[in-house]
Amino acid sequence: MIDFEKFSKYSKAGPRYTSYPTAPEFNDSFDATSYVKVLENQDKARKLSLYFHLPFCRSACYFCGCNVTFTSKEDKKDRYIDYLEKELALLAKHLDVTREVIQLHFGGGTPTFFSAEQLKRVIGLIKQYFKNFSQEAEISCEIDPRFLTLEQLEVLTCNGFNRISYGVQDFNDEVQKAIHRIQPYEVTKNAVEMARNAGIGSINMDLIYGLPFQTLETFKQTLEMAISLQPNRFAVFNYAHVPWMKKTMRKIDETTLPHPSVKLAIMRYTIDFLSANGYKMIGMDHFAKPDDELFLAIEKGELHRNFQGYTTKGGADLVGIGLTSIGEGINHYVQNFKEMEAYEEALDKGILPVHRGLILSDDDVLRKAVIMEMMSNFKLNIEGIEKSFGIDFFDYFADAIEALKPFVEEELVIIDKENKRILVNPTGTLLIRNIAMPFDAYLQKIPEDKRRFSKTV
Ligand SMILES: C[S@@+](CC[C@H](N)C(=O)[O-])C[C@H]1O[C@@H](n2cnc3c(N)ncnc32)[C@H](O)[C@@H]1O
Ligand code: SF4
Repeated sequence: MIDFEKFSKYSKAGPRYTSYPTAPEFNDSFDATSYVKVLENQDKARKLSLYFHLPFCRSACYFCGCNVTFTSKEDKKDRYIDYLEKELALLAKHLDVTREVIQLHFGGGTPTFFSAEQLKRVIGLIKQYFKNFSQEAEISCEIDPRFLTLEQLEVLTCNGFNRISYGVQDFNDEVQKAIHRIQPYEVTKNAVEMARNAGIGSINMDLIYGLPFQTLETFKQTLEMAISLQPNRFAVFNYAHVPWMKKTMRKIDETTLPHPSVKLAIMRYTIDFLSANGYKMIGMDHFAKPDDELFLAIEKGELHRNFQGYTTKGGADLVGIGLTSIGEGINHYVQNFKEMEAYEEALDKGILPVHRGLILSDDDVLRKAVIMEMMSNFKLNIEGIEKSFGIDFFDYFADAIEALKPFVEEELVIIDKENKRILVNPTGTLLIRNIAMPFDAYLQKIPEDKRRFSKTV
């Protein structure tokens, strides 16, 4: 038996490392002009991954950490598409749109809060600018099962969408009430069946642990119900509670949140349960069947981490379009404005709506490689890092190795100097954010009580 009570001490504020440096390090000295410069020097041989942010939802789920605009006004949504059109036209002046697109993702918000006609218009715009889609492109959409019609699904499948990700979170009535998201099992079941019948080959389901009133017992039931629908993948997220950033999270009574030891027990059970049911754990919070390309990517060492979680499409530049969206290249991050007004104002002036970003230093690129490899593969090939970056690893990261000592002593991590590798054991994987944190140069400069991140456990 694992003593989860003992590991509760690792429940600290820490990043989820969907980027390194993390988003708080992005700054507004990187602006539209900086982004244009980055694009002027783009490597045209690199492929493109496109992310479109479709930010609208009808009502707030209290746990939601996404960038969302609540509305049901059709004209607001049409107006947003007008601005996406402006952004695409402007982007196409600087980005080589003939580069091959290997990935397209609609995120939100709830993309299917747009009508079938509106979705058709967005897709039409994308196709107008980007004509070089790979035959094997991964084209995916996040969907709230409560907002999906056959007509919308047809628009997606007719336009090559081959992956769908459904938000479920939890099937328990009490939990659903507390998070302000009533979503009966039947609704999710119908949505899954609709997508399967429409020929969508890969269906993901999002669950969250750490929500109000969850216990190991309630989550066991949620998992049983979820697995009865046989999605191809699961994302099981640790609830990121950041009420200082997200007002609606303040509606959650913190006394109803499960204790870190319960969260650890839930995650440990989830790993065992899903493994026993034919899924393999991929990185920190994803699970896939062994024939899934995400799983095959691990074997080939090609699993990557980015803003959308884990992906097989590593060697591509991520281009974000729409409010608040983030782009990423080998040595830059760029993020659009979060406020609709600022986003529209920039585009009205004919300027790319860049809010902030970052050019990575050599040290950032090195640390990013270390952190992302640990987050993706739960191990680190030290020799590979030394060769790629021309460093003596143990000398360069002496402080981080020292900071990992408690994890080594508790047998959560093995630092194998002889074979030049770091290995994280299965219990250690539950604490992978903590284990990556010593390699984060920015975090080390912030006193522990001033770190504004969600809890790692
Ligand atoms: C944009 S939503 C998915 C699509 C759709 N809006 C829905 O909710 O069904 C993205 C996913 O992020 C996850 N998520 C949102 N807020 C979160 C938080 N604070 N902590 C952990 N996961 C969160 C949820 O699992 C959610 O399904
Ligand atoms: S979880 Fe999804 S549906 Fe709920 S508010 Fe967030 S984006 Fe909207």
